[in-house]
Amino acid sequence: MLIIRQVHKAYPTPQGPLPVLAGVDLQLGQGQSLALMGESGSGKSTLLHLVAGLDRIDSGSIEVAGQALEHLGERQLAAWRCTGIGLIFQQFNLIGSLSVADNLAFQARLAGRHDPAWNSELAERLGLSSVLQRYPEQLSGGQQQRVALGRALASRPALLLADEPTGNLDEHTSGQVLDLLLQLQADSGCSLLMVTHSPAIAARLQRQVVLHAGQVQG
Ligand SMILES: Nc1ncnc2c1ncn2[C@@H]1O[C@H](COP(=O)(O)OP(=O)(O)OP(=O)(O)O)[C@@H](O)[C@H]1O
Ligand SMILES: [Mg+2]
Repeated sequence: MLIIRQVHKAYPTPQGPLPVLAGVDLQLGQGQSLALMGESGSGKSTLLHLVAGLDRIDSGSIEVAGQALEHLGERQLAAWRCTGIGLIFQQFNLIGSLSVADNLAFQARLAGRHDPAWNSELAERLGLSSVLQRYPEQLSGGQQQRVALGRALASRPALLLADEPTGNLDEHTSGQVLDLLLQLQADSGCSLLMVTHSPAIAARLQRQVVLHAGQVQG
Protein backbone atom coordinates (compact mmCIF):
# COMPACT_ATOMS: atom_id res chain seq x y z
CA MET A 1 0.00 0.00 0.00
CA LEU A 2 2.67 2.48 1.10
CA ILE A 3 6.31 1.83 0.28
CA ILE A 4 8.91 4.41 1.29
CA ARG A 5 12.44 3.69 0.10
CA GLN A 6 15.59 5.58 0.99
CA VAL A 7 13.87 8.93 1.17
CA HIS A 8 16.12 11.95 1.65
CA LYS A 9 14.87 15.44 2.31
CA ALA A 10 16.71 18.63 3.24
CA TYR A 11 15.25 22.11 3.62
CA PRO A 12 17.12 25.02 2.08
CA THR A 13 18.08 27.60 4.71
CA PRO A 14 20.28 30.71 4.58
CA GLN A 15 22.98 28.66 6.31
CA GLY A 16 22.77 25.94 3.65
CA PRO A 17 20.67 22.79 3.34
CA LEU A 18 19.23 21.41 6.58
CA PRO A 19 19.06 17.62 6.24
CA VAL A 20 15.95 16.21 7.93
CA LEU A 21 15.35 12.78 6.40
CA ALA A 22 18.42 10.74 5.55
CA GLY A 23 17.38 7.39 4.12
CA VAL A 24 13.90 6.66 5.47
CA ASP A 25 12.60 3.15 4.74
CA LEU A 26 9.06 2.25 5.74
CA GLN A 27 6.28 0.01 4.51
CA LEU A 28 2.61 -0.11 5.41
CA GLY A 29 0.22 -2.80 4.19
CA GLN A 30 -3.39 -2.32 3.19
CA GLY A 31 -5.64 -1.81 6.19
CA GLN A 32 -2.69 -1.60 8.58
CA SER A 33 -2.18 1.13 11.15
CA LEU A 34 1.18 2.55 12.10
CA ALA A 35 2.19 5.10 14.72
CA LEU A 36 5.09 7.38 13.85
CA MET A 37 6.84 8.74 16.91
CA GLY A 38 10.04 10.67 17.51
CA GLU A 39 11.20 13.77 19.28
CA SER A 40 10.18 17.27 18.22
CA GLY A 41 12.01 18.28 15.07
CA SER A 42 12.84 14.70 14.05
CA GLY A 43 10.96 15.12 10.76
CA LYS A 44 7.62 13.40 11.38
CA SER A 45 5.49 16.14 9.82
CA THR A 46 8.01 16.46 7.00
CA LEU A 47 7.59 12.77 6.18
CA LEU A 48 3.80 13.00 6.34
CA HIS A 49 3.80 16.03 4.00
CA LEU A 50 5.96 14.12 1.53
CA VAL A 51 3.63 11.12 1.59
CA ALA A 52 0.68 13.49 1.14
CA GLY A 53 2.33 14.97 -1.94
CA LEU A 54 2.41 18.43 -0.33
CA ASP A 55 6.16 18.62 -0.79
CA ARG A 56 8.78 16.85 -2.92
CA ILE A 57 11.48 14.39 -1.87
CA ASP A 58 15.12 15.05 -2.81
CA SER A 59 15.82 11.39 -3.61
CA GLY A 60 14.44 7.93 -2.99
CA SER A 61 10.91 6.85 -3.69
CA ILE A 62 7.42 7.04 -2.19
CA GLU A 63 4.88 4.67 -3.66
CA VAL A 64 1.23 4.78 -2.62
CA ALA A 65 -1.10 2.10 -4.01
CA GLY A 66 1.37 1.38 -6.79
CA GLN A 67 1.80 5.04 -7.75
CA ALA A 68 5.29 6.54 -7.39
CA LEU A 69 4.68 10.14 -6.34
CA GLU A 70 8.00 11.40 -7.67
CA HIS A 71 6.83 10.55 -11.19
CA LEU A 72 3.75 12.75 -10.99
CA GLY A 73 3.63 16.33 -12.30
CA GLU A 74 2.11 19.09 -10.16
CA ARG A 75 -1.34 18.79 -11.67
CA GLN A 76 -1.39 14.99 -11.42
CA LEU A 77 -0.16 15.25 -7.86
CA ALA A 78 -2.96 17.66 -6.94
CA ALA A 79 -5.54 15.35 -8.49
CA TRP A 80 -4.05 12.36 -6.71
CA ARG A 81 -4.12 14.20 -3.37
CA CYS A 82 -7.86 14.65 -3.75
CA THR A 83 -8.65 11.00 -4.34
CA GLY A 84 -5.83 8.96 -2.84
CA ILE A 85 -5.44 10.23 0.68
CA GLY A 86 -7.29 11.68 3.61
CA LEU A 87 -5.47 14.21 5.75
CA ILE A 88 -6.07 15.20 9.34
CA PHE A 89 -3.97 17.77 11.16
CA GLN A 90 -3.63 18.95 14.71
CA GLN A 91 -5.27 22.23 13.71
CA PHE A 92 -8.57 21.18 12.28
CA ASN A 93 -8.21 23.27 9.09
CA LEU A 94 -11.93 23.50 8.42
CA ILE A 95 -13.27 26.08 5.98
CA GLY A 96 -14.87 28.79 8.11
CA SER A 97 -17.25 30.05 5.43
CA LEU A 98 -18.76 26.61 4.82
CA SER A 99 -21.32 24.79 6.96
CA VAL A 100 -20.44 21.50 8.65
CA ALA A 101 -22.33 19.64 5.92
CA ASP A 102 -20.36 21.39 3.18
CA ASN A 103 -17.06 20.93 5.01
CA LEU A 104 -17.79 17.21 5.24
CA ALA A 105 -18.52 16.91 1.53
CA PHE A 106 -15.93 19.38 0.28
CA GLN A 107 -13.02 17.10 -0.56
CA ALA A 108 -15.18 14.27 -1.87
CA ARG A 109 -16.95 16.71 -4.20
CA LEU A 110 -13.61 18.02 -5.46
CA ALA A 111 -12.57 14.45 -6.12
CA GLY A 112 -15.83 13.68 -7.91
CA ARG A 113 -16.52 11.03 -5.30
CA HIS A 114 -19.35 12.57 -3.32
CA ASP A 115 -21.57 9.79 -2.01
CA PRO A 116 -24.56 11.20 -0.06
CA ALA A 117 -25.32 7.89 1.67
CA TRP A 118 -21.74 7.49 2.92
CA ASN A 119 -21.72 11.14 3.93
CA SER A 120 -24.83 10.77 6.08
CA GLU A 121 -23.47 7.59 7.61
CA LEU A 122 -20.26 9.42 8.52
CA ALA A 123 -22.18 12.35 10.00
CA GLU A 124 -24.32 9.95 12.00
CA ARG A 125 -21.42 7.87 13.30
CA LEU A 126 -19.40 10.97 14.14
CA GLY A 127 -22.33 12.42 16.08
CA LEU A 128 -22.58 15.43 13.79
CA SER A 129 -26.11 15.01 12.44
CA SER A 130 -27.54 17.73 14.68
CA VAL A 131 -24.88 20.33 13.83
CA LEU A 132 -24.73 19.97 10.03
CA GLN A 133 -26.05 23.48 9.39
CA ARG A 134 -23.65 25.14 11.84
CA TYR A 135 -20.34 26.74 10.97
CA PRO A 136 -16.95 25.59 12.33
CA GLU A 137 -16.61 28.53 14.76
CA GLN A 138 -19.84 27.39 16.41
CA LEU A 139 -18.39 23.98 17.27
CA SER A 140 -16.26 22.65 20.12
CA GLY A 141 -12.74 21.45 19.39
CA GLY A 142 -13.80 17.81 19.54
CA GLN A 143 -16.68 18.45 17.15
CA GLN A 144 -14.37 20.30 14.75
CA GLN A 145 -11.93 17.42 14.73
CA ARG A 146 -14.77 14.98 14.07
CA VAL A 147 -15.73 17.09 11.03
CA ALA A 148 -12.10 17.00 9.88
CA LEU A 149 -12.12 13.21 10.29
CA GLY A 150 -15.36 12.89 8.32
CA ARG A 151 -14.04 15.13 5.57
CA ALA A 152 -10.87 13.02 5.30
CA LEU A 153 -12.88 9.79 5.01
CA ALA A 154 -15.68 11.09 2.78
CA SER A 155 -13.82 10.38 -0.45
CA ARG A 156 -12.96 6.84 0.75
CA PRO A 157 -9.19 7.28 0.54
CA ALA A 158 -6.94 4.23 0.57
CA LEU A 159 -4.58 5.95 2.98
CA LEU A 160 -5.37 8.14 5.95
CA LEU A 161 -2.59 10.44 7.18
CA ALA A 162 -2.99 12.02 10.59
CA ASP A 163 -0.54 14.45 12.20
CA GLU A 164 -1.20 14.55 15.95
CA PRO A 165 -4.94 14.49 15.28
CA THR A 166 -5.87 14.69 18.94
CA GLY A 167 -3.03 16.99 20.02
CA ASN A 168 -5.34 19.96 20.55
CA LEU A 169 -8.00 18.09 22.52
CA ASP A 170 -8.42 17.31 26.20
CA GLU A 171 -7.82 13.71 27.25
CA HIS A 172 -11.47 12.66 27.33
CA THR A 173 -12.30 14.22 23.95
CA SER A 174 -9.07 12.92 22.51
CA GLY A 175 -10.07 9.38 23.53
CA GLN A 176 -13.47 9.75 21.86
CA VAL A 177 -12.03 11.08 18.60
CA LEU A 178 -9.38 8.35 18.56
CA ASP A 179 -12.02 5.64 19.11
CA LEU A 180 -14.03 6.96 16.18
CA LEU A 181 -10.97 7.29 14.00
CA LEU A 182 -9.88 3.70 14.63
CA GLN A 183 -13.39 2.29 14.18
CA LEU A 184 -13.92 4.11 10.90
CA GLN A 185 -10.44 3.20 9.69
CA ALA A 186 -11.06 -0.47 10.41
CA ASP A 187 -14.51 -0.43 8.78
CA SER A 188 -13.42 1.44 5.67
CA GLY A 189 -10.33 -0.76 5.28
CA CYS A 190 -7.96 2.15 4.66
CA SER A 191 -4.39 2.20 5.95
CA LEU A 192 -3.48 4.67 8.66
CA LEU A 193 -0.22 6.50 9.27
CA MET A 194 -0.50 8.57 12.43
CA VAL A 195 2.02 10.88 14.05
CA THR A 196 1.69 11.00 17.80
CA HIS A 197 3.74 11.97 20.84
CA SER A 198 1.63 9.81 23.10
CA PRO A 199 2.84 6.25 23.81
CA ALA A 200 -0.71 5.37 24.96
CA ILE A 201 -2.18 6.44 21.62
CA ALA A 202 0.61 4.77 19.67
CA ALA A 203 -0.04 1.51 21.52
CA ARG A 204 -3.56 1.38 20.08
CA LEU A 205 -2.19 1.12 16.54
CA GLN A 206 -0.86 -2.14 15.09
CA ARG A 207 2.76 -1.01 14.71
CA GLN A 208 4.96 1.68 16.20
CA VAL A 209 8.13 3.14 14.73
CA VAL A 210 10.41 5.97 15.81
CA LEU A 211 12.02 8.57 13.57
CA HIS A 212 15.49 9.40 14.82
CA ALA A 213 18.54 10.94 13.17
CA GLY A 214 16.73 11.05 9.83
CA GLN A 215 15.85 7.37 9.78
CA VAL A 216 13.08 5.06 10.92
CA GLN A 217 13.94 2.73 13.76
CA GLY A 218 11.99 -0.09 15.32
N1 LIG B 1 9.76 24.74 5.61
C1 LIG B 1 10.85 24.51 6.36
N2 LIG B 1 12.02 25.18 6.13
C2 LIG B 1 13.12 24.94 6.85
N3 LIG B 1 13.18 24.05 7.86
C3 LIG B 1 12.05 23.36 8.16
C4 LIG B 1 10.84 23.56 7.43
N4 LIG B 1 9.90 22.74 7.95
C5 LIG B 1 10.49 22.07 8.95
N5 LIG B 1 11.78 22.42 9.07
C6 LIG B 1 12.77 21.87 10.02
O1 LIG B 1 12.86 20.47 9.77
C7 LIG B 1 12.98 19.74 10.98
C8 LIG B 1 11.85 18.73 11.07
O2 LIG B 1 10.61 19.41 11.21
P1 LIG B 1 9.23 18.65 11.37
O3 LIG B 1 8.17 19.65 11.41
O4 LIG B 1 9.14 17.60 10.31
O5 LIG B 1 9.44 17.92 12.79
P2 LIG B 1 8.40 17.08 13.67
O6 LIG B 1 9.05 15.76 13.96
O7 LIG B 1 7.07 17.05 13.02
O8 LIG B 1 8.35 17.93 15.02
P3 LIG B 1 7.13 18.19 16.05
O9 LIG B 1 7.01 16.93 16.87
O10 LIG B 1 7.59 19.34 16.86
O11 LIG B 1 5.89 18.48 15.26
C9 LIG B 1 12.99 20.79 12.09
O12 LIG B 1 14.34 21.03 12.42
C10 LIG B 1 12.36 22.00 11.47
O13 LIG B 1 12.86 23.17 12.03
MG1 LIG C 1 5.19 17.86 13.52
